[in-house]
Amino acid sequence: MLSDKTIAIVKEITPVVAANAETVTRVFYQKMFAGNPEVKAFFNQAHQHSGGQQKALAGAICAYFTHIDNLAALTPAVELIAQKHCSLGIQAEQYPIVGKHLLAAIKEVMGDAATDEILAAVGEAYQLLADVCIERERQIYEEQRTAAGGWNGYRSFVVDRKEPESDVITSFYLKPADDEPLPAWLPGQYITVKIDHPTTPTSPRNYSLSNQPGQDSFRISVKREPGLTADAPDGLISTYLHDQVQVGDTLQIGPPCGEFTLDPAEPRQTPTVMLAGGVGVTPLLSMAQSLIAAQPEAPLYFLQAARNSQTHAFAAEIQELRNQGANVRTLTLYDQPLADDLENQNCDETGILSENILREWTPFTAANFYFCGPKPFMQNVYASLKALNVPADRIHFEFFGPRQDIESAPLADEPEVTVSH
Ligand SMILES: Cc1cc2nc3c(=O)[nH]c(=O)nc-3n(C[C@H](O)[C@H](O)[C@H](O)COP(=O)(O)OP(=O)(O)OC[C@H]3O[C@@H](n4cnc5c(N)ncnc54)[C@H](O)[C@@H]3O)c2cc1C
Ligand code: HEM
Repeated sequence: MLSDKTIAIVKEITPVVAANAETVTRVFYQKMFAGNPEVKAFFNQAHQHSGGQQKALAGAICAYFTHIDNLAALTPAVELIAQKHCSLGIQAEQYPIVGKHLLAAIKEVMGDAATDEILAAVGEAYQLLADVCIERERQIYEEQRTAAGGWNGYRSFVVDRKEPESDVITSFYLKPADDEPLPAWLPGQYITVKIDHPTTPTSPRNYSLSNQPGQDSFRISVKREPGLTADAPDGLISTYLHDQVQVGDTLQIGPPCGEFTLDPAEPRQTPTVMLAGGVGVTPLLSMAQSLIAAQPEAPLYFLQAARNSQTHAFAAEIQELRNQGANVRTLTLYDQPLADDLENQNCDETGILSENILREWTPFTAANFYFCGPKPFMQNVYASLKALNVPADRIHFEFFGPRQDIESAPLADEPEVTVSH
């Protein structure tokens, strides 16, 4: 436990740290990559370039300082971080490296205001958080290692099938090279793909499992990420998977991790709503198929948003949910439909997902909401659910990257959609 004095100091400096948190974390990463280049290989440099990782770490530090006298409030945040760390193989002995550079960054940014007393208090607080993370990560590693079919680190998998799902998304079916069983996992979890790119040093990437647990292969479904501007490179690993990796190739895979999950066996008293944006459909498809296989009567509302019929993946599998489940409803929404998409019934509606549609189409007063998609989609959904007074304990979501600020203003200038049938 922290002393009262340490807690008082941390509370006192929280506003200053919060005001400078992104600068602190930027300086922190510069110092760490220069001083301990051996840890750089764990970090996705695209997340550094976008600032997403700096923001996620800054947010975590601010949340920690804010709740320094009520650490129970941090349990969900710690779980997200621990699952992410375990997916990447982060080890206890790396924590002092992070602690050292974090303190040095705070000292540099705060200047003379960072007295020895303050730095000692921050160091003590860091160690407590590190201890909490290390202990949770030890448990996760042990569960992975001792589970039937489980493992730590990377295991060789062979690409058994490679199938296009749309113009931009391709599925890879992965079977263990040792022909031994797969471990149990929960729908919504992700695995880690580690590829030593032939030309560019790179870090592991997470991909959600898009099939159901209990099968003899993992399925991941990967969207090809193009460079977003003329001078931006194409996404390194998604492009490599699409263009270079073929059936029969071997990939290094880390065990299933992640806390954005749904237990299909858990009885559901209330309806479940899943809202999928683009490739964010992958964890939700796994959740939906697993839920309906376990509880065919469960009320499920599955809304899929896509650009148009060219990028729309898994249309047949989502239709199939309606055949399998007695109470499944689906809705498909295109925001950039092709000329004949609506007429050909490739989608049900056009436009973006709005508060109107959630109000009209979902049982929002009782349902549990699960959603995943690009940042503007996530912000829109979150703002709409808040406007509909859906309480936080019925809202579950995941970002495909470092956690971002979901509460920022969503895009407001798109046409609203109402449900016409
Ligand atoms: C929990 C989780 C689950 C996920 N599940 C899935 C999934 O099911 N399917 C899926 O497709 N993805 C998923 N992702 C995303 C996936 O992990 C990768 O982030 C994604 O495939 C992009 O990786 P990449 O190597 O192709 O692109 P990166 O090389 O990481 O690049 C990403 C973007 O950054 C831009 N960029 C990179 N470097 C620069 C630079 N120097 N200057 C300007 N721009 C730059 C690129 O142009 C690109 O648009 C998931 C992520 C997480 C965290
Ligand atoms: C108490 C100390 C630490 C805290 C509070 C912390 C916090 C975080 C947070 C908030 C994220 C983003 C999670 C997400 O939203 O996806 C993250 C990711 C990550 N952390 Fe930590 N972390 C700590 C220690 C470490 C250590 C010791 C390492 C080892 C070098 C490490 C390596 C990473 C990596 C590689 C990622 C993923 C980065 C990426 O996406 O590129 N962290 N951590």
